[in-house]
Amino acid sequence: MRAAVCAEHGGPGVVRVEDVPSPELVPGHVRVRVGAAAVNFPDVLVITDRYQVSVPTPFVPGSEFAGVVAAVGEGVDRVRVGDRVMGSAIVGGFAQEVVVAAAALRRVPDGVTDRVAAAFGVAHRTAFHVLRSVARVQPGEELIVLGAGGGVGLAAVQLGAHLGATVTAVASSSAKLEAAAAHGATNLIDHRSTEASGGLRGALRGVLSDGADVVVDPVGGDLSEPALRALRWGGRFVTVGYASGTIPHIPLNLVLLKGCQVLGFEFLSFATHEPEAMARNEAELLALLAAGTVVPHIGVVFPLEDVADALQLVADGQAVGKVVIDITGDDS
Ligand SMILES: NC(=O)c1ccc[n+]([C@@H]2O[C@H](COP(=O)([O-])OP(=O)(O)OC[C@H]3O[C@@H](n4cnc5c(N)ncnc54)[C@H](OP(=O)(O)O)[C@@H]3O)[C@@H](O)[C@H]2O)c1
Repeated sequence: MRAAVCAEHGGPGVVRVEDVPSPELVPGHVRVRVGAAAVNFPDVLVITDRYQVSVPTPFVPGSEFAGVVAAVGEGVDRVRVGDRVMGSAIVGGFAQEVVVAAAALRRVPDGVTDRVAAAFGVAHRTAFHVLRSVARVQPGEELIVLGAGGGVGLAAVQLGAHLGATVTAVASSSAKLEAAAAHGATNLIDHRSTEASGGLRGALRGVLSDGADVVVDPVGGDLSEPALRALRWGGRFVTVGYASGTIPHIPLNLVLLKGCQVLGFEFLSFATHEPEAMARNEAELLALLAAGTVVPHIGVVFPLEDVADALQLVADGQAVGKVVIDITGDDS
């Protein structure tokens, strides 16, 4: 099969597309013929060996995908050959075939293409768990989303608006802010041009004179503190990731003065500690996809042979919404 291969850890340029044997099918696992995969920022962290789990080389990167069940291993009764499925794994998705645990797969709702199904994975699930169970966003609340044009950020904009919040999107380009507006953001702030307003802090105060209820932060770095300062009394700040490459250090007196809560979300920990909330949220989210109420924004589609360019786009923080890898050339 054709597959992206990371033979040594490094930047996106180390990933080559080669002919490799299909992975072995083992009990409890399923072989999926992949139609489309999607790129997440953690894929960049895995190939550069900066992810929380180190994956030994050589390996096939790719953490989310959609396709058709080609074979099932011993003991699998959740899915059958021919079922359309979507799933996630730490690696393996940027290939014509992937073998994953049956529990990692969900059915693709009728009428949803492989590209859309692949793009509706990690980012939307992360954003929904954050909004629904961690921040507990309520209708009418003011929500600030940092990195609002990226995968998690744009999903948080869409889902925050769906939950009835008024969304202030913070991003670095007009293309990202246009996408955020198209998916429900009301206030748009380009953090690269806030000098005249007194920086991000002043720009946020300009649109949110009474402050915000919630901040969702997948970026970190210099944006986190001014966003936290924009919270009103009792607000909630959720740290989700550090795409900027910098883990921010927040003065604790801000938390004291605002009576606010600083909360965190990490997927595997949430799955371990909050299995019931996770199952409920995932069912609600799948229903939104099936109904066409929330459809992921696919900014660009690359063929498998150009997977290194796709990873580079995400590594550079230039992606608008989701970057999809088309494996079969057939978007049905
Ligand atoms: N906690 C969890 O369970 C969980 C789950 C999924 C993802 N994450 C994390 O969430 C973060 C966002 O993931 P994503 O898939 O949404 O990524 P993404 O699509 O690449 O978006 C990241 C955004 O971060 C901003 N950014 C600022 N400096 C950057 C830099 N040096 N390189 C790249 N981006 C930069 C960019 O927004 P602007 O240009 O607008 O500033 C970019 O749009 C990552 O850190 C990821 O690891 C965490």
